[in-house]
Amino acid sequence: MKAVICPAFGHGLAVTDFPAPALRPGAVRIAVHAAGVNFADSLIAAGKYQEKMEPPFIPGMELAGTVLEVADDVTACRVGDRVMATVTGGAFAEEAVAEIGDVYHLPDTLDFVTAAGFPVAYGTSHLALTAKAGLKAGETLVVHGAAGGVGLTAVEVAKALGATVIATAGGPDKVAVALEHGADHGIDYKTEDIRGRIKALTGGRGAEVIYDPVGGAVFDASLRSVAADGRILVIGFASGTVPQIPANILLVKNITVIGFYWGAYRKLDPAMVRRSMTEALDWWAAGRLFPHVSRVMELSEAGAAIDLLTRRAVTGKIVLTTGR
Ligand SMILES: NC(=O)c1ccc[n+]([C@@H]2O[C@H](COP(=O)([O-])OP(=O)(O)OC[C@H]3O[C@@H](n4cnc5c(N)ncnc54)[C@H](OP(=O)(O)O)[C@@H]3O)[C@@H](O)[C@H]2O)c1
Repeated sequence: MKAVICPAFGHGLAVTDFPAPALRPGAVRIAVHAAGVNFADSLIAAGKYQEKMEPPFIPGMELAGTVLEVADDVTACRVGDRVMATVTGGAFAEEAVAEIGDVYHLPDTLDFVTAAGFPVAYGTSHLALTAKAGLKAGETLVVHGAAGGVGLTAVEVAKALGATVIATAGGPDKVAVALEHGADHGIDYKTEDIRGRIKALTGGRGAEVIYDPVGGAVFDASLRSVAADGRILVIGFASGTVPQIPANILLVKNITVIGFYWGAYRKLDPAMVRRSMTEALDWWAAGRLFPHVSRVMELSEAGAAIDLLTRRAVTGKIVLTTGR
């Protein structure tokens, strides 16, 4: 099969012929029609992600396609089913093997390209905002990096939960995308002061919850703009800077900082992840979520796609297609 290979950390990606992965118990083999690209793919290919893979390996953590083969002990899927799945590497290829617990049937009207970019971003934002932060209707949520992959889904999930959303992003075009996807207010953090604007927009109170996939200076501004007794979700560090937290501010303002790693919950509490993803898919079917795939590229362009993400040149998701 054709696959994207990371031959060594930091050495770029190449498309090559690679043996198709063997089916194993508890899993299904999927003909991959499309695969979603994530910021984490750049970290994995550079050997800088929290979970390391041994080169040479096929990157890619989410995909959509048709089931080709089913292990003997799997009853929840049949050959020919249309599915999306998350995998620990292997999505950027014509075929992938996924654990049945990480496979979801697609609603008939959900196309493969949209589905390929769905699980990681919506899965992360839905579980983080519901189970971890307990975001409630009427609360105000700040979403940083709000035009990015996870950021934009956090805007939509929060609106579906009835929250008021303040979206921050770098530049007016990105702020506009977040507003189009339901944000109530936008802050361009390239030109505007995050802290001052959040204070003004919340009547001086601050935001009850902050969703932060960016880190660095943006996180520092969050500590100053979260309401007393508020919650900050640590989602990621796209800025490249892992924030250091002065505990005295947490104490004085009764702030709860919540670390969140969706991938770990796939093993820690798979039933919770499935409930969350199923609800997100239901919300999509009910017309409450609006997945934004801004670029569709070919498998052979995986390296260029990751480059676009790290240059902040993308909104929503990039999806690769295999031609299958
Ligand atoms: N915790 C979890 O379970 C989980 C799950 C998925 C993703 N993540 C993490 O969340 C972060 C975002 O992932 P994603 O896939 O949504 O990425 P993405 O689509 O590239 O979005 C990241 C956003 O961060 C902003 N950003 C600020 N500084 C940046 C920089 N130096 N380089 C790149 N982007 C920068 C960009 O927005 P502006 O240009 O508007 O600033 C961009 O839209 C990553 O750190 C990822 O590892 C965590």
